[in-house]
Amino acid sequence: MSTLPTGYQLVTDIPDDRYGEWLDCWLGAFGNPVSADPEILEFYRRTHPSDRAVAVADDDRYVATNTALDRELVLPGGNTVPAAACTGGSAHPVVARRGLLRATVAHLNQRAVDEGKAIVVGGASEWPIYGRFGSGPATWSDAVEFDVRAVGLRADVPGRDLRPRRIDGTQARDLGYKLYSQQAAQTPGEVLTPSCYWDRLAGDPASGALEEALALSAPGYGPRHCAAIEDRGLVTYRIMPDWTAESAPQSKLHVIDFLAADQEAEGALWRHLFSVDLVREIDVWRMPVDSPLRWWVDDARRMRVRRQDALWIRPLDVPRLLRTRGWACDGVLTLTVHDPEGLAAGTFRLEVTDGHATCEPVTAAADLEMGVGALAVILLGGTPAAALTRAGRISAPDARKVQLWDAMAAPERTPYISYWF
Ligand SMILES: CC(C)(COP(=O)(O)OP(=O)(O)OC[C@H]1O[C@@H](n2cnc3c(N)ncnc32)[C@H](O)[C@@H]1OP(=O)(O)O)[C@@H](O)C(=O)NCCC(=O)NCCS
Repeated sequence: MSTLPTGYQLVTDIPDDRYGEWLDCWLGAFGNPVSADPEILEFYRRTHPSDRAVAVADDDRYVATNTALDRELVLPGGNTVPAAACTGGSAHPVVARRGLLRATVAHLNQRAVDEGKAIVVGGASEWPIYGRFGSGPATWSDAVEFDVRAVGLRADVPGRDLRPRRIDGTQARDLGYKLYSQQAAQTPGEVLTPSCYWDRLAGDPASGALEEALALSAPGYGPRHCAAIEDRGLVTYRIMPDWTAESAPQSKLHVIDFLAADQEAEGALWRHLFSVDLVREIDVWRMPVDSPLRWWVDDARRMRVRRQDALWIRPLDVPRLLRTRGWACDGVLTLTVHDPEGLAAGTFRLEVTDGHATCEPVTAAADLEMGVGALAVILLGGTPAAALTRAGRISAPDARKVQLWDAMAAPERTPYISYWF
């Protein structure tokens, strides 16, 4: 267990009247203190309850924060496991690199074990931070920007006959939650958000402050637009106007929510976005790696795409995770997992027969041997074990066992997380 410097205490019970201080300590580290706005404060109280939050305090104030929400992680095959969804890690610059984050992470990991969580999940503001705590990047997404006319949309994109309709924030909230629930249940890597998360769409459409705090959009865009395709598709976006006396209109459309129940609705949403007058550029912060858009445009090479790591995960209960996730084919493998913190360590025999998995601790030679962070990277099938073997992060005496893992672990679709928590 890590220790704090003298004069600092770990606080595991944030009183209600100090919740705003806790929230601003966290979001202030990202330049977004929000507690002065009662609507946003209320939103966070519901989505990030005080009884899950922890802090480090000096004599007067909170100087570091963290939290682990009660959530479910969707695994390949659609089953879920209880997850400690960590967010809110911060330490004020005056106390940085003195072990405050480490102390809150140690506390939250132990709490997750005590609560029977199978895994810890979270985002990483910077790549180098969380590997040391046993996490690894399990999902990836693409940040995509493109010039609408240069990229063009093919005529055969589905959804030609579906017309979009404008809806208000309350309708968008209800439709968003419905579509998200359908979509997320079939997407490995999603961390299921509660219905109150969708209240953000019913808030003031002119203000982007909450979206900014939730890392959904940059500041400075115009009012939020909500367009629906029947009850099968929803897109919300803001448009940054750009039209001067010297230039033709070249506004930028920033996509915030993009949810579709089927391919026709998805195609119809893109048809709508490509058709908005005065818009020259479209910007999507998070697009699934397997989005069909690349195959629906005339010239995909003109899309500017930046692949980014997304959800970082930290396995805790390896047998439960391997038993619960779906497998693409049968096979038997023995895995040794090393974990300096001892939480996930062991040797486990995975046997999948007729699609049914068993997994038990054993004493036997391993087919695949890896650190817990490497298991995190391959667990959902977002990165092949072969890649980590080439990088020296997995060792396997028989290379065919690596191929076997990759065949068994192939997910039904590329793991993806659409919303931070
Ligand atoms: C990131 C942050 C929470 C780290 O807090 P901290 O109290 O300084 O972290 P600790 O002192 O406990 O550091 C633990 C370890 O992580 C390393 N570390 C911490 N932040 C790091 C960073 N940004 N980059 C690289 N390494 C980092 C430390 O060097 C230390 O390494 P060690 O294994 O040698 O001990 C803090 O700097 C911060 O608030 N940053 C801005 C907001 C942010 O990025 N939050 C993270 C949200 S995911």
